[in-house]
Amino acid sequence: MSIEIKNVSYVYSKGTPFARQAIKGVNLRAARGEWLAVMGPTGSGKSTMLQHLNGLLKPDSGEVLLDDKNIHSSAASLREARQKVGLVFQYPEHQLFGATVYEEIAYAPENYGCSPDEIPELVQRAMDTVGLGYDRYKSRQPYELSGGEKRRVALAGVLAALPEVIVLDEPTAGLDAVGRQLLTETITRLNRDRGITVIWVTHEITEIAHLAERLIVLNKGEVAIAGKTREVLANPMMSELGLDIPPAVAISRELGGRGVPVRGQPVTLDEIREEIIRLLKEKQ
Ligand SMILES: Nc1ncnc2c1ncn2[C@@H]1O[C@H](COP(=O)(O)OP(=O)(O)O)[C@@H](O)[C@H]1O
Ligand SMILES: [Mg+2]
Repeated sequence: MSIEIKNVSYVYSKGTPFARQAIKGVNLRAARGEWLAVMGPTGSGKSTMLQHLNGLLKPDSGEVLLDDKNIHSSAASLREARQKVGLVFQYPEHQLFGATVYEEIAYAPENYGCSPDEIPELVQRAMDTVGLGYDRYKSRQPYELSGGEKRRVALAGVLAALPEVIVLDEPTAGLDAVGRQLLTETITRLNRDRGITVIWVTHEITEIAHLAERLIVLNKGEVAIAGKTREVLANPMMSELGLDIPPAVAISRELGGRGVPVRGQPVTLDEIREEIIRLLKEKQ
């Protein structure tokens, strides 16, 4: 499923003395199966933009299109957007409310009109996808789980609605290294094997620089840079905005500044290591 934000602007508390323009004239498009990363300083409008993607917020001007259809054109379109575009909030574990893991995850399919006899299988499949054993976890109470387990329950709750687009707001924040790895692997599988479109907001681009085809950088509510991830990361504006770049990009920049011709815009340590070995061999 393709998703597009066209010239979208949004003002919070419109018409009050507290009115605040959060995003302005923002454009973004992700084709089916594409992986997009979004970065930007705090307050640049990332979360506001994400909440437009499944219709939680309605643009003051501009359009949100799902397969080229405006999601606000009818109640049915909006309902479809809510189901097809799964939004994983920042710290989603703070919003768990089900009495059991099963109830928590069954909530979405129950709401999107799945027949009751399909639901146990949907819940089980979603739990398998995030690595939570069905028999072991289904009757547990969400509040007694670890932080990483809660986060997986929240993701399974989104997956049980069978979304075609997954939108994640800083999904690895607060997780340990194992939790981060597990989440990145899960989303990679969904993207590669099921063609799910991924839009991932991050402060830590190193985790996904090799996975996201394109990177969009917001600043003060507007798109400041957009393009192929490797090219955007090489843009000097990234540091000017105080955004993190992967160590491999910093090393390439340093080498480039010393006149060493680094090829291929490396973004992972493996890639820069290979490139340095190649440069050394070339010198010999
Ligand atoms: N519920 C809200 N009410 C009023 N202003 C808000 C609200 N949420 C966000 N804002 C403001 O909108 C701007 C963008 O915020 P946000 O989308 O949360 O940015 P980011 O996710 O990039 O940190 C900020 O100036 C923020 O203070
Ligand atoms: Mg945010």
